[in-house]
Amino acid sequence: MEKGVKIDEAKGKLGVMLVGLGAVATTVVAGVELVRKGLAKPIGSLTQLGTIRLGKRTENRVPKIREFVPLADLNDIVFAAWDIFADNAYEAAMTAGVLQPSDIEKVRPELESVKPMKAVFDKYYVKRLEGSHVKQGKNKMELAELLMKDIAQFKAEHKLERIVIVWCASTEIYEQHHPAYDSLDAFEKAMVENHIAIAPSMIYAYAAIKSGVPFANGAPNVTIDIPAMLELAKQHNVPISGKDFKSGQTFMKTLIAPGLKAKQLGVSGWFSTNILGNRDGEVLDDPESFKSKEVSKLSVLDTIFQPELNPDLYANVYHKVRINYYPPRGDNKESWDNIDIFGWLGYPMQIKINFLCRDSILAAPIVLDLALFMDLAQRANMKGIQEWLSFFYKSPMTLPGLYPEHDVFIQLMKLKNTLRFLRGEDLITHLGLEYYD
Ligand SMILES: NC(=O)c1ccc[n+]([C@@H]2O[C@H](COP(=O)([O-])OP(=O)(O)OC[C@H]3O[C@@H](n4cnc5c(N)ncnc54)[C@H](O)[C@@H]3O)[C@@H](O)[C@H]2O)c1
Repeated sequence: MEKGVKIDEAKGKLGVMLVGLGAVATTVVAGVELVRKGLAKPIGSLTQLGTIRLGKRTENRVPKIREFVPLADLNDIVFAAWDIFADNAYEAAMTAGVLQPSDIEKVRPELESVKPMKAVFDKYYVKRLEGSHVKQGKNKMELAELLMKDIAQFKAEHKLERIVIVWCASTEIYEQHHPAYDSLDAFEKAMVENHIAIAPSMIYAYAAIKSGVPFANGAPNVTIDIPAMLELAKQHNVPISGKDFKSGQTFMKTLIAPGLKAKQLGVSGWFSTNILGNRDGEVLDDPESFKSKEVSKLSVLDTIFQPELNPDLYANVYHKVRINYYPPRGDNKESWDNIDIFGWLGYPMQIKINFLCRDSILAAPIVLDLALFMDLAQRANMKGIQEWLSFFYKSPMTLPGLYPEHDVFIQLMKLKNTLRFLRGEDLITHLGLEYYD
């Protein structure tokens, strides 16, 4: 019997629809166009640059990931977007101020051709934004139907084989659990009744899944993390994944924390603060949107440290996360982490991390990788939560009852083993005793 999983070929064009055409989204579109023209390299992208070891170390089989599994070619990607502002991707990229104007100019026609469709928006969910490029409908079900029309039209217009949607829009306010989320019936009823518990992001996700389109959630909004969406995804055989791109400070956290735990070093406190001056920073300046981000950022340490199993080391970690909106910095976020640790006999030490990063430069390749892997998942008939993509997320989705894996190296191993599994290659356990027999 043949090993591995049947995967449909990546033939034809892949539509990548981005919800939100802001800093991250325009950096992805411009980046892909620059790479396609051979004017830049896709640094930071696992699908474009990453390799994967196969078989034994002595076999020397280490192909590129994109040669090992059938991923859509960058030349076959067509972008579309929705936004509450009508600016095309060229204007939006200029406003975002992530890339140098000289780089943006090199792909100006390509960017100008990405004109956002009208958004589904509700100011209740993003208090700091006001936009007029917004759809009107008599209720939330009708808005979802309008989005489904957009999806179908984009597919027909560009003769696309497949589509994926990635949420790159602003962070919505923190949502308490609501009974309308518990089943698809209750959710659809609430949509028709125009219930306030149904967030715009949920309407996009609903429209995507109903259209058979994979949906990846790059922000910390709950969105697809509810039973109704899991039910819908299963019903329509659609992969979903989330949430909140793991790009800067949290990426560092999931690098350092597993290392401290590996060394059996204790932690008494971890203080993380940021200054950030882009529109995302402005939205997160609203306490209700910040709450979504805070919950997502805070979840990481507990699951890595497992204080219940390691009480001597992590029973009392004081973990604090702050984000301050500071306009002069634009997209060039600066983060500081102070980690109070203790070693042998409880003697205290400190680690300071000062990361001068570029938020959207770190997030853009994540969007590309997610789009390509979600499309692969769809062609491999993988439906529901794609936990193997945890590597890309701050707050990885799992089935209820399973705790998420935050350790970045375990996440990467899981991702690569999933690819090996799909291709019928041996999983790599790193045991390696056979070399010494
Ligand atoms: N940059 C990173 O490193 C990073 C990391 C993790 C998560 N994120 C998240 O990614 C998202 C995008 O970040 P960004 O820096 O590009 O922000 P941004 O403010 O530059 O862009 C967001 C865009 O979404 C639009 N928008 C808001 N609500 C919308 C809706 N309902 N429908 C369509 N468009 C809508 C806004 O008008 C804006 O153009 C944010 O939620 C952010 O928290 C970013």
